[in-house]
Amino acid sequence: MKLFLDSANIEEIKRANEFGIICGVTTNPSIIAKEGKDFKEMIQQMTQIIDSPSGEVKPTTEEAKDMIREGRSIASLHPNMVVKLPTTPEGLKACHVLSKEGIKTNLTLVFSVPQALLAARAGATYVSPFIGRIDDISMDGLQLIKDIAQIFKIYNLSTQIICASIRNAYHIIGCAKTGADIATVPYSIIEQMVKHPLTDKGLEKFKNDYIAVFGE
Ligand code: E4P
Repeated sequence: MKLFLDSANIEEIKRANEFGIICGVTTNPSIIAKEGKDFKEMIQQMTQIIDSPSGEVKPTTEEAKDMIREGRSIASLHPNMVVKLPTTPEGLKACHVLSKEGIKTNLTLVFSVPQALLAARAGATYVSPFIGRIDDISMDGLQLIKDIAQIFKIYNLSTQIICASIRNAYHIIGCAKTGADIATVPYSIIEQMVKHPLTDKGLEKFKNDYIAVFGE
């Protein structure tokens, strides 16, 4: 399973990229708004660090024809740009047209198997099921990933699954076990993934044992 960083923060993107573990970045209007930066400027900065950026059509764009126009303009910013579209009837129409033009698409805000299936049939490169938000309403987010992965496999669908709305390292293990293609993770979860108290304790002991015999 590949890892994407779910962030619009340039410093976080730089730091995660230095670890050599991320293959792409996802953003959404809420995290872009949190940074308070111009969208195009942010994408341009992002593309100087990472080769697989993502840009979402504005949440205020409701009709397919406008999503298509906006999607084309986002795609023109970088050869590997992935255009994020909402999983709505208009989003599906836009996905169908943009995909036929060879533009990569990511159908976001997926909360059910039928939505994922429709996105795949409309030609989406990626679907993004939001598992944390499903857990938030006392349902099983990981089960959704399992179901989508199973069905995509049965029908040999090439649409890749991006596990989104990841809230903890346990989600990462669950997603990887389903054979999902990608998990997009906030920087704080990457920090959680690398951390283990026994690693810290072990390193402290190595340091003390070494210093006791060899000094600094
Ligand atoms: C994915 O593309 C989204 O940005 C994302 O994972 C949203 O997660 P949240 O539910 O933590 O906002």
